[in-house]
Amino acid sequence: MKVRIFRFNADTGEEGISEYDLPFGTERGYPLLTILRYIHENHDPTLSFFSHCVCARGICGRCVVDVNGKKRLACSYVPDTDELTVRPMNENYWKDLVCN
Ligand code: FES
Repeated sequence: MKVRIFRFNADTGEEGISEYDLPFGTERGYPLLTILRYIHENHDPTLSFFSHCVCARGICGRCVVDVNGKKRLACSYVPDTDELTVRPMNENYWKDLVCN
């Protein structure tokens, strides 16, 4: 699976897309949060997303992101696809996928 993630560094003002090739696909029904945690732990510890204050049950709504052009809860399962593009839910981002 190929995952592209929007990145923004508030210190430098730089933004762009980071791309990760993962050794698994969505066919096993991973929630996006699991995929983001995998990338954080195995590819890039600087990746920022809401992971610490979340319910992981579709209740709090803090994990909303844009996935392939649609707003989705990151704690829900991602569509069965080989490519994901993940962006913040709005333009008020202050670090990667974290928004106000
Ligand atoms: S973590 Fe609470 S809705 Fe996703």
